[in-house]
Amino acid sequence: MSSLQPVRGTRDLIGDEQRRHRHVIDTARHVSGLYGFEEWSTPIFEETRVFSRTLGETSDVVTKEMYTFTDRGGDSVTLRPEGTAAVCRALVSNGLTQSLPQKVFYAGPMFRYERPQKGRYRQFHQIGLELIGPAEPLADAEVIACGWQILSDLGIAKSVVLELNTLGDMDSRTAYRAALVDYFTRFATELSEDSKARLERNPLRILDSKDEGDRRIVADAPTIAGHLTPLAAGFYDSLRNSLTALGIPFVENPRIVRGLDYYNHTAFEFVTTELGAQGTVMGGGRYDGLVKQMGGPETPAVGWAAGIERLAMLVTALQAEAAPIAVIPAGEEAEGAAFGVLQKLRQAGIRAEMSYRGNMRRRMERANKLGARAAVILGAEEAARGVVQLKDLVSGDQREVARDVLVAAIRALPSAGADA
Ligand code: HAM
Repeated sequence: MSSLQPVRGTRDLIGDEQRRHRHVIDTARHVSGLYGFEEWSTPIFEETRVFSRTLGETSDVVTKEMYTFTDRGGDSVTLRPEGTAAVCRALVSNGLTQSLPQKVFYAGPMFRYERPQKGRYRQFHQIGLELIGPAEPLADAEVIACGWQILSDLGIAKSVVLELNTLGDMDSRTAYRAALVDYFTRFATELSEDSKARLERNPLRILDSKDEGDRRIVADAPTIAGHLTPLAAGFYDSLRNSLTALGIPFVENPRIVRGLDYYNHTAFEFVTTELGAQGTVMGGGRYDGLVKQMGGPETPAVGWAAGIERLAMLVTALQAEAAPIAVIPAGEEAEGAAFGVLQKLRQAGIRAEMSYRGNMRRRMERANKLGARAAVILGAEEAARGVVQLKDLVSGDQREVARDVLVAAIRALPSAGADA
């Protein structure tokens, strides 16, 4: 058998990568809690129709990227490509549509059959927020503000720009759609094959085209600004005013349409130039029609999701783990007693390590290699007297300490490897 590798587009998270990953989730979990969001976990696969109709029949995700298969019972299921549709399904399934607002935080793997490259994977991970219930633009400002605080706490707010757009309400969209069809029809022969198809089914999608030729045509396409109803324009004004009042910088980008079809009014992305082509670290917007599509009542909602891998790549300063305490038996006969001391330290919340074999010198070398803060040394004689030698590996000082005050003595070491 040739050597086994992870499936293309998937990755193992080990060591520093896993630490960064966890740091992103911990930070987001903490900050979203300050804003009143509660964590939900939904299954990583759903009935295919949860996604197929709701994300947009012409979207890339649905047409090309879903991991869909028939299970052994003959049902069509799909590995979730995103979390929003799943959260709306869960809201309806759990009878929560009358218990609003629901403020949901989630973190977990998503699956899209995309062409892998830096920052783009087939199994990737998202953190996300969904604020379900309020129709007010203040809710949009709140989820953006929470996203901004997460990016700030991760230390990457300086590397990203918030790009903002409105997609208007239904009437604005209908008027804008007509204007786009008008415009793109004039270039119908020059558009890419994909965009020709989009012209009939979903002309807004053309604005998102990656094709060079399409992009030249898109550059002069009309923007939605001239087609907004007074209501939609007012909504957008109000959001911009809130963001300005909160001191959250943004630029307007009328070309943001987002890759999924469920959006109306607000659409936004936090983008960076530091990751090459895959520069969108967080994206979201308002999706007032999705809960109804899931079989629930008309329910407004707004949210975002962010790629953990992309955020993790931008995080520079990770808080170092506390240095461990090395427990070192002097001679084989003290090993059992040392193992007992090791357990006591861990139970007290102190990170501690003991090698599985080796003489004292070897074990001391290993302690230094681990970057241990201090060594706890005990031989048979110390064990019998109920004491240990505590050696500060930074200052080199060594002194005898009674076992029952060892935890306190370790905590008293200047910046010791102990949880306070
Ligand atoms: P999305 O724009 O499809 O939106 O994805 C959100 C973020 O997930 C992207 O900005 C990117 O950082 C990350 N991402 C997407 N695909 C990949 C990939 N293949 N590899 C690595 N990272 C990726 C959504 O998923 C919506 N559910 C967001 C939302 C929530 N809208 C409202 N609520």
